[in-house]
Amino acid sequence: QKPPTTILASTVIRNIKQLVTVAQAPIEGASGPLQVLEQAVIAVHKGSIVWIGQEGVNEPHFVADNPEDSNGITLIDARGAVITPGFVDSHTHLVFAGDRSEEFHLRRAGVSYGELLAQGRGILTTMQATREASEEELQQSALARLASVRQHGTTTVEVKTGYGLSKETEETCLRVINSLNATWQESLSSLDSIRVVPTFLGAHSVPPEYRGQRQRYVDLIVEEMLPAFVHLSRFCDVFCEREAFTVEECRRILTRAKELGYQLKVHADQLTPGGGARLAAELGATSADHLDFATDEDLDAMREAGVVATLLPGCSYTLRTPYPSARRFLDRGLHVALATDFNPGTSYCENMQMMLGLAMSAMGMSLEEALTATTINGARALALHDQIGSIEVGKRCELALWSIQDYHEIGYHFGVNLIHSVLMPK
Ligand code: NIG
Ligand code: FE
Repeated sequence: QKPPTTILASTVIRNIKQLVTVAQAPIEGASGPLQVLEQAVIAVHKGSIVWIGQEGVNEPHFVADNPEDSNGITLIDARGAVITPGFVDSHTHLVFAGDRSEEFHLRRAGVSYGELLAQGRGILTTMQATREASEEELQQSALARLASVRQHGTTTVEVKTGYGLSKETEETCLRVINSLNATWQESLSSLDSIRVVPTFLGAHSVPPEYRGQRQRYVDLIVEEMLPAFVHLSRFCDVFCEREAFTVEECRRILTRAKELGYQLKVHADQLTPGGGARLAAELGATSADHLDFATDEDLDAMREAGVVATLLPGCSYTLRTPYPSARRFLDRGLHVALATDFNPGTSYCENMQMMLGLAMSAMGMSLEEALTATTINGARALALHDQIGSIEVGKRCELALWSIQDYHEIGYHFGVNLIHSVLMPK
């Protein structure tokens, strides 16, 4: 028998009833289409996973950085929890002020989202409230929402601007986003942290002061906002839609953004077939999101260009429109991510468990596909899949702990928060 190897570790997590993850390489002792490991142990060093195995089976000898210090390794007892990767929510608009419940109820009475946008309500109602709020108020409300996001199992969240629509307020919102918590450049290891990925969405709606001269608003984005915000934002997004920006306007904005070093995202084909998905493929965007009206040819172009398809079932739920069939995307070989689209108009929900459940009940996804879409493919939609999104040696240790007996309860037991906590050990 070989003597045990020695591995440097700062934290060892024990008493994990089931470790459940999607993985590139099979984990020894795990089985099934999802990798499921019973009685698992995870060792972590400086926030990265260094060993995964089963309690007592070929365990290495874990040593602390300083071998003199017998307390050098933190032991975490998972108390028999089921563990998955923390959710990666790759699409939210969680910095805003005000409330849109009135529109929610108007829509129930038959007014459509598109009609409200065309009347200058919708996004512009939230813009008005956001412009009137102080930076402090925006930060406090965003922090409260972020705490709720985390309590529902999310460890990385993308956050967009798009309710300022002036250089000044867009910049305020970007400052707020960057102040929220650890940003994407930093490695997470504090116990109450969440990774925030900033996105600039100046092209969300044409603000009222540019009505009738939309060209000048696009000029402002391209010539002033994009160059000024490069260091505050990782992605540039656009709302490519009849009531928002045309394909030509979006192409101009995204082309400049790409030259400046932003990565790209597109709100595409949500309300009408508008060419957004095709544009995302043409420009090599990281993801195209919504896609309710994307054609088969658009999807093929996206697959060829490696664009992640992000589906947002919270919008279908809120707008009471048909859910996109996930099978259509999966069967064509696309990478599919699920996200909340947390925003005050079309999806007032910060809970990724809800998206996972809707995808399984209404969009034709299996548990394996829905977990893939909410973890590793969320990470892919942020181009962070080599660092997060699965529980594997070499990745950051960012976990969701579930208060369930068996992982088959995920998607089945619905409408309650099954997350006990998230865990990001040093
Ligand atoms: O992703 N579609 C555009 N933007 C958001 C909605 C924003 C709003 O209505 O405030 C979305 O659905
Ligand atoms: Fe959105």
